[in-house]
Amino acid sequence: MPIYHKLGKIPHKRHTQFLNKGGKHPYYFEQLFGTEGFSGMSSLLYQVHRPTQVKEILKSYSVAPKIADGKNIKARLLEGFKIAPADDFLESRKALLVNNDVHLGLAAPRKSLTSYFYKNADCDEMLFIHKGSGTLRTFMGNIKFVYGDYLIIPRGMIYQIEFDTKDNRLLFLESKSPIYTPKRYRNHFGQLLEHAPYCERDLKLPNKLETFDKKGSFTIKIKKEGMMHEVVYATHPFDVVGWDGYNYPYGFSIHDFEPITGRVHQPPPVHQTFETDSFVVCSFCPRLYDYHPKAIPAPYNHSNIDSDEVLYYVDGDFMSRNNIEQGHITLHPKGIPHGPAPGAMERSIGAKETLELAVMVDTFRPLMVTEDAVKIDDGKYYKSWLE
Ligand SMILES: [Fe+2]
Repeated sequence: MPIYHKLGKIPHKRHTQFLNKGGKHPYYFEQLFGTEGFSGMSSLLYQVHRPTQVKEILKSYSVAPKIADGKNIKARLLEGFKIAPADDFLESRKALLVNNDVHLGLAAPRKSLTSYFYKNADCDEMLFIHKGSGTLRTFMGNIKFVYGDYLIIPRGMIYQIEFDTKDNRLLFLESKSPIYTPKRYRNHFGQLLEHAPYCERDLKLPNKLETFDKKGSFTIKIKKEGMMHEVVYATHPFDVVGWDGYNYPYGFSIHDFEPITGRVHQPPPVHQTFETDSFVVCSFCPRLYDYHPKAIPAPYNHSNIDSDEVLYYVDGDFMSRNNIEQGHITLHPKGIPHGPAPGAMERSIGAKETLELAVMVDTFRPLMVTEDAVKIDDGKYYKSWLE
């Protein structure tokens, strides 16, 4: 996050004595919390207790997705709302399309995550809130979320999630490389430029830092290399009294994405919202259509020869497809061209606006299809361009 942010109390100078008056320890404990070693974004945290007090390591178990098709050439339509709800947040998460860079999946958690803590040690996470509202609680502060919010959670973040609702639907990504705002939207100093479709004012930064000075047994489920490890700590993980820096979770509403339009059809990069080394995330939002008198608003066929394209349909009529519903995912794999469904191009001519709302993820390496994905695959989408 290229914005400096701070919460709580911090000492005047980093790496100096920070007195904890009245505390059991005379000083607060400092922790550098960063990505990419000591050269990426980082924050300095000040904690009541030593953050290293492992008390016990309970069970470890595999949560690696089971692959049904590791070499996929088939366009697929996944009926996402057929993912069954589950009480537990982590158990509800079903990875559907995966490779070594990114796992993409859906979740329908019914209950809040409050009885343990969770940390993804390998990946930045992106949660997109399709249904539901609540609060993301982290050891660096809280973020309230509602329908349409992206939550970007850097690797290593210890968090819980509280829902106000029972009917929750999330799209999630786990990314091996950090998730950033696109570099071409930023100037040399990291500020978002005037041509960017959103700016710093649109970001939801963490606030309401909660500090718990508690000893006991606190389980953190740590996800690492396809395994979940249950590690018990002797102090409450949310014991940060203050922090400052650039590495922290944040939110951004898809409804705050300002679409870029033109006289003729604009290519997908105008919808770009986030980037990594291995995939991009784009937001397709309600917008006015192209205004050249002979414009064709529907996209042209395209040969996505170097990326797999995943679209998650959120709301509105998706203009380039037929028979698409909320929660559907389409996968257009690299190696075969794709384009609008038959009739969609003709239908789009003369239309003035679209109300479509969708999230697109283009991965630079092919995606494998999991067993959970096959269960909700309609099985016939790949023939849907036949006339
Ligand atoms: Fe496409």
